[in-house]
Amino acid sequence: MEIINTIPEMKLWSDRARESHKTIGLVPTMGSLHEGHMSLVRQSVATCDFTVVSIFINPTQFGKNEDLDKYPKDLESDTNLLESAGVDVVFAPSSAEMYPEGYKTFVTVEGITDHLCGKSRPGFFRGVATVVLKLLTIVRPHTGFFGDKDWQQATVVETLLRDLNVDTTIERLPLLREPSGLAKSSRNFYLSREEMAPALSLSRALDAARQRVQNGEHSADRIKQEIRQTIEANKQARIDYISVCDPENFVELDEIKDKSLIALAVHIGKTRLIDNCLVRRVECKE
Ligand code: PAF
Repeated sequence: MEIINTIPEMKLWSDRARESHKTIGLVPTMGSLHEGHMSLVRQSVATCDFTVVSIFINPTQFGKNEDLDKYPKDLESDTNLLESAGVDVVFAPSSAEMYPEGYKTFVTVEGITDHLCGKSRPGFFRGVATVVLKLLTIVRPHTGFFGDKDWQQATVVETLLRDLNVDTTIERLPLLREPSGLAKSSRNFYLSREEMAPALSLSRALDAARQRVQNGEHSADRIKQEIRQTIEANKQARIDYISVCDPENFVELDEIKDKSLIALAVHIGKTRLIDNCLVRRVECKE
């Protein structure tokens, strides 16, 4: 497995792979890899000739008061994991390599970024869209792998690629959970033992909501109210948002329709967790 730190070297590697008619899969990450990332990596290794994993903690997607400086890092354990998974290249550029002095260009996907995480983290999707477009331009993958844990992010990336005619296909893979139900995330590393129970209330509330919808509940308000009660039963939990929305444009719904997204962002102590599930309307039989 090669570790490449500079853009010219990464481009040269990709040019050579493409010249020899090999397909390239890219899994963009910020490191601190967990099973969720590894499921994307395994899918890329299984379906593409070459797999590149980028590890770059992208400063432009963090707000002023967010956790950029203390975002978990462990390049050695990440590279060991990736090597044993059969990855060909780790692309790990520095911030100065990606954003040299005088850097001026940012990409904005409009509308769909006004909701959910885009609303509570202004500038977040501008940073994500910019870095993803840069990574795709540098690595030139045939396929990019994204997880549905970050549902809105995957949709923003799909929209970006469609609108800017980028020749990369996006493959989205399902969110993975710990046996406890907690959605796998690098930010779970921050949770203390005492914060585990409140953290689990997100997946418990979503499970209950899914069940209610399956039993014929259509009211978005009632579903949100129940989720709020389950989560607020924990003192350490502070809700950022609870949304029942259209899974493509993230506009809030009054009623569950066929394919609705229930999405949550909750602060547990200093850690902000997100989780989601897709539900379908069930008509009650008279
Ligand atoms: O989901 C992430 O880890 C990041 O937002 C991404 C896609 C790697 C861009 O920095």
